[in-house]
Amino acid sequence: MFKRNILITGGAGFIGSHVVRLLVNRYPEYRIINLDKLTYAGNLENLKDVENASNYIFVRADICDFEHILEVFRKYNVDGVIHLAAESHVDRSIRDPFTFAKTNVLGTLSLLQAAKICWEGNYANKKFYHISTDEVYGALPFDGSLFSETTKYDPHSPYSASKASSDHFVRAFHDTYGLPTVVTNCSNNYGPYQFPEKLIPLFINNIRHGRPLPVYGKGENVRDWLYVEDHAKAIDLIFHQGKINETYNIGGFNEWKNIDLIRVIIRTVDRFLGNPAGTSEKLITYVTDRAGHDLRYAIDSSKLKNELGWEPSVQFEQGIELTVKWYLDNQDWLDNITSGEYENYYRKMYGRE
Ligand code: NAD
Ligand code: DAU
Repeated sequence: MFKRNILITGGAGFIGSHVVRLLVNRYPEYRIINLDKLTYAGNLENLKDVENASNYIFVRADICDFEHILEVFRKYNVDGVIHLAAESHVDRSIRDPFTFAKTNVLGTLSLLQAAKICWEGNYANKKFYHISTDEVYGALPFDGSLFSETTKYDPHSPYSASKASSDHFVRAFHDTYGLPTVVTNCSNNYGPYQFPEKLIPLFINNIRHGRPLPVYGKGENVRDWLYVEDHAKAIDLIFHQGKINETYNIGGFNEWKNIDLIRVIIRTVDRFLGNPAGTSEKLITYVTDRAGHDLRYAIDSSKLKNELGWEPSVQFEQGIELTVKWYLDNQDWLDNITSGEYENYYRKMYGRE
């Protein structure tokens, strides 16, 4: 008999796998049900170290398959949801917006509806926690301003539009049916197990192989980077202590212009590989900008700090060292993940063999 039965969606992905690992290890009294469709981005290799834990179960399912989701809720008596499953890559959303609308909007709706049906009449000790992104707020100018929880939604990509829509559905289920929901909007995560289509792991892998580093536009866009384990700890805290119907922004207080970040990655990888400093600078290749490319993201997470006491614990210098080392030490993981569908995508995207 478990004290809680927590459904984590998207647990085989990048952030989800860190959340699953943290909760499985920290709460042996909870049953952690990892529900994932295992799209190109989901990889059970990410969870090898916890797959045999007695409080862990994996269920392969599509969040859009409402009947299946309902069955899982009933079978495992789910009383908490941490919803991370999504299509998450902006460039893919530009090529294939339908998949993003389906998974991110209809998939979220299917989970909300299942939670409502199973919990209605007894919302005590239940929580539906939706993980969202800072991209729903749009783009900031270079003026030091920050996204707060009250910043107006202004999404620009099909990805961020689909996440914004899912956020609205979550809040609507609270307002209409009283579903106990909480939403967080987080900045860019980095660290181990991130699919190598995203900037940091893509560039580490490309440097390792001497491939070009495709910098979009002039490389002047700014992102606010947070080490993934700090995000996982914030999720744990908010799942337990976050107030119902609240929104919390989560950020790294760590803004980097892309080109400056890329130079840090190059320096760090070259050093680990024993190359003379600056060796891989020649791989920098300026390419056509991403359509609708948001200029700057930066999060004000003071509400989370003031109300729940969370702050990032990993300094960027330490985080980037850990990250580069992890990808260089785990070339098999990278090779496995880049060998299938992704390799075809990569060719189409950059026109290279
Ligand atoms: P990811 O792409 O690495 O993983 C997504 C996971 O969802 C994969 O395991 C995939 O198999 C699963 N999935 C996709 N479609 C599914 C479906 N229909 N049914 C069930 N499972 C499905 O994503 P990530 O980067 O770990 O992001 C996780 C969540 O956090 C997303 O909701 C994303 O919007 C949000 N987020 C990400 C970041 C970031 O920097 N990566 C920042 C803020 C918020
Ligand atoms: O802000 C949170 C978001 O961060 C999450 O919601 C998304 O799921 C996640 O993918 C991430 O989105 P970004 O678009 O910011 O991440 P990405 O790694 O794709 O790109 C980071 C920056 O680097 C962005 O300004 C685009 C640029 N870039 C990216 C790639 C892949 C390049 O210049 N070249 C590249 O090849």
